[in-house]
Amino acid sequence: MRKKIVAGNWKMNLDYNEGLGLFSEVINMVKDEATGNQQVVVCSPFIHLHSLAALAKGYTNVSVGAQNAHQAESGAYTGEVSAKQVKSTGAEYVILGHSERRQYFGESNELLAKKTDTALANGLKPIFCIGETLQQREANEHFDIIKSQLVEGVFHLDADKFSQIVLAYEPVWAIGTGVTATSDQAQEIHAFIRKELAAKYSQQVADDTTILYGGSCNPKNAAELFACADIDGGLIGGASLKSRDFTDIVKAFN
Ligand code: PGA
Repeated sequence: MRKKIVAGNWKMNLDYNEGLGLFSEVINMVKDEATGNQQVVVCSPFIHLHSLAALAKGYTNVSVGAQNAHQAESGAYTGEVSAKQVKSTGAEYVILGHSERRQYFGESNELLAKKTDTALANGLKPIFCIGETLQQREANEHFDIIKSQLVEGVFHLDADKFSQIVLAYEPVWAIGTGVTATSDQAQEIHAFIRKELAAKYSQQVADDTTILYGGSCNPKNAAELFACADIDGGLIGGASLKSRDFTDIVKAFN
């Protein structure tokens, strides 16, 4: 059975102490909520990772992730952080291909394919983000865009490696805007993604892959989104910065 995941993406928010405080609250509030095949993942800035991973130890349903990692193993890349370094903190996941990385840092599908390989080689599970812009949706290009992001970003992986990938569908027009995709719009894309996975790999791989929805997901809309057949949880930005909101989203599974 595929994992159900609620992942927080803190983005570039919270200083060191604020981050530890929020994560301690989150652990206390979700430890009895996330059970069985449900996983709560908090993706923090690099500075928090080691301390958060230490706090999460002993809670099998709570994990920590980074929001980026470099494609090279190591070397003269001043200011960058490698996948091996992320892994050494105790983090298990890494977000790759978030639309803000694509937009502000020019990350292409080709680069993201390399980042995915390096993350996997170092034992990290990528949360690989895909999604169309408003302009692309209005031009009716959203299915083509999603498909090319899959083909160029992750479909070079064999089925065994692909089994480590979590996908996140995040329509760019819904991120941080307060405009959520309707559950019908999200389910339509999630079903499309799963169909593409079945065609590329197998029905088994398609059935086993966790596909998250992201974009203005909040305690009010989470239950309806998570009830959709192909939506296996959420990637949560703004609402992950408040322990109560984030916990209420985790509870939306139940
Ligand atoms: P949001 O961000 O929940 O604030 O829209 C989601 C994301 O960027 O992952």
